[in-house]
Amino acid sequence: MNSRPSIAFAKPATPKKGSVFVLSADGSGLSDAAKACDPAKALDRAFPVADFTAKFASVMEVLAPEGTSIDRLVVIGAGKVSALDDYAWMKLGGTIAASLRKAIDVAVVVDLADASVGGKEAANLAAGILLRSYSFDKYKTKKDNGDDKGETKKSAKITIYTNDPAGAKKAFADEVAVIDGVLLARDLVNEPANTLGPVEFAARAKELEALGVKVEILTEKEMEKLGMGSLLGVAQGSPRGARMAVMQWNGGKAKDSPVAFVGKGVTFDTGGNSMKPASGMEDMKGDMGGAAAVTGLMQALASRKAKANVVGIIGLVENAVDGHAQRPGDIVTSMSGQTIEVLNTDAEGRLVLADALWYCNDRFQPKFMVNLATLTGAIMVALGQHYAGLFSNNDELSERLTAAGQATQERLWRMPLGSEYDKLIDSKNADMKNIGGRYGGAIIAAQFLQRFVKDTPWAHLDIAGTAMGAPGNEINQSWGSGFGVRLLDRLVRDNYEQ
Ligand code: BES
Ligand code: MN
Ligand code: ZN
Repeated sequence: MNSRPSIAFAKPATPKKGSVFVLSADGSGLSDAAKACDPAKALDRAFPVADFTAKFASVMEVLAPEGTSIDRLVVIGAGKVSALDDYAWMKLGGTIAASLRKAIDVAVVVDLADASVGGKEAANLAAGILLRSYSFDKYKTKKDNGDDKGETKKSAKITIYTNDPAGAKKAFADEVAVIDGVLLARDLVNEPANTLGPVEFAARAKELEALGVKVEILTEKEMEKLGMGSLLGVAQGSPRGARMAVMQWNGGKAKDSPVAFVGKGVTFDTGGNSMKPASGMEDMKGDMGGAAAVTGLMQALASRKAKANVVGIIGLVENAVDGHAQRPGDIVTSMSGQTIEVLNTDAEGRLVLADALWYCNDRFQPKFMVNLATLTGAIMVALGQHYAGLFSNNDELSERLTAAGQATQERLWRMPLGSEYDKLIDSKNADMKNIGGRYGGAIIAAQFLQRFVKDTPWAHLDIAGTAMGAPGNEINQSWGSGFGVRLLDRLVRDNYEQ
């Protein structure tokens, strides 16, 4: 299992044993507080040799300095202290986690001249440590060093020194709720499709009831009654069934209309009859990254008892091929009544979302809907893997999302919508077709979704590039990143809580 560090906060003290991490500001050298950690003399000599100037997130390590009781001193550069925002503190936490190795006893001394380390800063450090420490190793029967796993890996016990331990503890409790939401999303994305199909995913969503979330699971029969021919058409080539999970967290005022999040949950995407090439197809176990983010978000909001009414809806199917699978050219009728000519069975995510969005809007009349989906390869061509695509019919919602993206560094870049693009999905044989021409594939997918949201403020986040396989960073080394959970928690926290 993941060796999750345990974290405590305490008033500044002089650590006497174990590994000591000292955060040091750019150009300031070591203060008396750090020198009290004993090996200061060794450091005074090591700094120039190592050419260490405490640049942000740089690391200098001194092992068991002679004449000291501690095992190791690791100095982490904090750069310019005045420039440290929430995310920078998280990154520093991640940098600490990256250097933990097998340490059990760990003390973090924040030695930043005039910046007193308050509760919020310490909590962000802790958050970065936990996010970076995650790894998906549940299927490894041997540890990386070849040891038998039976001998459980001990996890680090970390004490962070802060002037405000009580404040840190309080801030950290909220952060842990969000972190656990991120880790749940990562777990779901990393889990292979043989163990996580629509039915198994729905069961994971159902577990949120323990936190006070109301969870309904719609079966194929119920979805058929509702007329969800678009979603069910995708599922019909798989023996794994189809589900829709409807999650409600009612932490706000009774009469207040909810905000809504909708996720694409294709537990595996073979492409169907329009089959994908073999190379890289394994990545399509992550084609439920949108649903994973929505589920992780609902867990986070419920765990921290967010003062908002929130709906989370995920459409769960497997896009597989057997003799029952839908064919190119098939025409299906969506819950909205609009008919769709399925010209490419690999453009399935939009077919799932069409019914999920319509159902969400129809039943809940939400203040807004934000959907998340690993929807198109084209968004990766446009933006690479550092920004998710944002498409929206509403400027205020877009601006709030973009701001939340900046704050959490789960960044969004707004892309265009317009009637010139919309007409590209008009069809000769039905109300619309599920693909357009050669260009603007991510936009065309968004135009398709827009036909199912009426005038409700809506945003579509295309997270194909960011939810999985994105380059690692200070706070994530996992293939499944959990992208979207911190972003949307922040959106709710900053704008929709009373
Ligand atoms: N799930 C894929 C999109 C995807 C590709 C996500 C790579 C993550 C990584 C989606 O269902 C898909 O197949 N989209 C097609 C659409 C096309 C057929 C119009 C695509 O992007 O090629
Ligand atoms: Mn596909
Ligand atoms: Zn897909």
